[in-house]
Amino acid sequence: MSGNGKISEIELFDYISTLKEVDAWESAMLLYNSALKQMETKVEILSDEFKHAQKYNPIEYVKARIKKPESIVEKLRRYGYSDSIENMIRYVNDIAGLRITCSFTSDIYRLAEMIGSQDDITVLSVKDYIETPKSSGYRSFHMIVSVPVFLSDKVVDTKVEVQIRTIAMDFWASLEHKIQYKFNGRVPDHIRMDLWECSDIVNMLDNKMLSLNEAVNRAQAENSDEHANENDNVDNDIRERQERIKLKAELKSKSQEAEKSASKEDGVKTA
Ligand code: GTP
Ligand code: MG
Repeated sequence: MSGNGKISEIELFDYISTLKEVDAWESAMLLYNSALKQMETKVEILSDEFKHAQKYNPIEYVKARIKKPESIVEKLRRYGYSDSIENMIRYVNDIAGLRITCSFTSDIYRLAEMIGSQDDITVLSVKDYIETPKSSGYRSFHMIVSVPVFLSDKVVDTKVEVQIRTIAMDFWASLEHKIQYKFNGRVPDHIRMDLWECSDIVNMLDNKMLSLNEAVNRAQAENSDEHANENDNVDNDIRERQERIKLKAELKSKSQEAEKSASKEDGVKTA
């Protein structure tokens, strides 16, 4: 506890470095589990609120998982790091992972913004594989966020990877994952090309379903006085949300860089 009676907030990496090796693994896993539970609850609350207050719930399903130790070790080796707990905390961002599947692409950005703007959540990075799909054809929206976990005498900021995608994107990703597994990562060219084609079809389907939904909403609004003035321009809406999310993540990383270089300078001054 700090002098003013407020419990101190630290990053998981700094917390773990104060522990003995034997305690470090269990403590780290406890924190990842707690952070994941918090994120799961936050999304559940959003989902409940949507069900209660809106006409429809954009969240189809949510899946939470903790990365297996062997996958953590495999990832560290793939990145060229030795398998220490410190390296795991520093370099493996998806130990706690939450996958949210939505109905429409516009829901993805709406949810990402709702999650990112919660006061206790810090968006550390954003990867928009919808705007720029991966070379495999993979489409999804990823955010690495950090959430404060309240322990008895400390608050520890812990990372969670949040993946948000549509049902169609999820269908593609799970099939592609199975194919990669079957071929041990060496997928024949013609199958890779077919997967690319399917990814394009997924994109077309998502766009088509989105405009269909908009047309339905417009038709409903025209029939109802209450919604007479409601005429969302979904494309603009998506673009504006994309820009806002990116900007926030950039500002955050700039302020972190500034903090880091300030603390380095402090270090030099005090050394
Ligand atoms: P990983 O080492 O794969 O975790 O990649 P990364 O840390 O550079 O992050 P990235 O955002 O690229 O990928 C994170 C996660 O997204 C992966 O663990 C998968 O769950 C998913 N993913 C990324 N690329 C693909 C892909 O080509 N196909 C499928 N099916 N999933 C993917
Ligand atoms: Mg991963």
